[in-house]
Amino acid sequence: MALAADGVSYSRTVRDHIERGVGIPRELYLSQELFAEEMTGIFGRSWLYAGHESQLTQPGQYLTVECGTESVIVARARDGRLTAFSNVCRHRGARLVDPGCGIKQRFVCPYHQWTYRLDGTLQGAPRMPDSFDPGSFPLPTAHVEVWHGLVFVHLGEAAPEPIAELLGTGDALMGAFGIAKTRVAHTISYQVEANWKLVWENAQECYHCNVNHPELIRAFDVAGLNATGRLETKSSPSLDPRVAHGRFPLRPGAVSLTLDGQYASCKPLGAFGGGLEPYTASIHLKPTFALVGCPDYAVVLSERPVSVDCTEVRMSWLVRDDAVDGTDYDLDTLAKVWDETNKQDWGLCERAQLGVRSQSYVPGPLSVDETAVVDFYRAYANLLEAQDL
Ligand code: FES
Ligand code: FE
Repeated sequence: MALAADGVSYSRTVRDHIERGVGIPRELYLSQELFAEEMTGIFGRSWLYAGHESQLTQPGQYLTVECGTESVIVARARDGRLTAFSNVCRHRGARLVDPGCGIKQRFVCPYHQWTYRLDGTLQGAPRMPDSFDPGSFPLPTAHVEVWHGLVFVHLGEAAPEPIAELLGTGDALMGAFGIAKTRVAHTISYQVEANWKLVWENAQECYHCNVNHPELIRAFDVAGLNATGRLETKSSPSLDPRVAHGRFPLRPGAVSLTLDGQYASCKPLGAFGGGLEPYTASIHLKPTFALVGCPDYAVVLSERPVSVDCTEVRMSWLVRDDAVDGTDYDLDTLAKVWDETNKQDWGLCERAQLGVRSQSYVPGPLSVDETAVVDFYRAYANLLEAQDL
């Protein structure tokens, strides 16, 4: 069992702090040793958001997913299946492709040109002995699954809980947005100089919103959220503390999370095109993924720790698959609220990271508007405990 500095397990330490109603100790944001354990034991065993299926429609289209020292290629194979396999050559280990996306006929290692098919099997290798059997050197596979058009990979060896089951309690609430019939209009990657847990804690509460998010609160009803927690409708809460979903209350007259509360895209998503009363809602899968749906657009957030004090957060804006940039929506208007809100949030996270580095920091009591932070701590404690940490 891995122990925090005082000889108590990390999970026990987190639970003690939950019971005392305070944040978690500063060491948990700073320990290189714990960070290494989190990467293999938590992120290496979680579903990771890879991208939207619309980015992988043609055979040979691929994208990469990075997780700590690991890199995985997700590709559309010739037979139409989605495949996921290691981005590490079976010869002498070179990365096959750079991070990002593209389209290929086959994956040729840049080092000595070992050549892999779109399903990750080895097609051939130059100047090898007669006894060499390419069939014996496929790239190791990863699990890949799709939920409402969103593609996820899982790097664990054992078969994970299917993503559709894990997120299934959110189907009724999130299904209305027709996410499978959207496409990626825009993506921004942010580097946040803060531990990944500070980024998640920040995303869980709106104790900070009124003062820090002037653009968001034009349409978003913070008081409504804080009065009731995330309003649950149509679906039961998940029993898994990693999963949370609920509505985002809007101010009177607002129909979308935009600067003026009106639609940013004139092509409504999913059931909203058929007259469903507008609502906004979100679903989280801690600690890797969040989706926020509005009647006219959606955003996907994915989080990837880079180091103990740096986290990459990627946000993609989704619009209906037939919406045309410049005609049906203006990209600046579409992206404005979340881009501003994100940058404000990252500044707060970086400010908190600076503070937790100080010897003087002792976690303080949490507000009644921070109950979802406690839910995050519970999920984190379970994840630690599952790894005997
Ligand atoms: Fe890939 Fe040699 S390392 S072909
Ligand atoms: Fe915020």
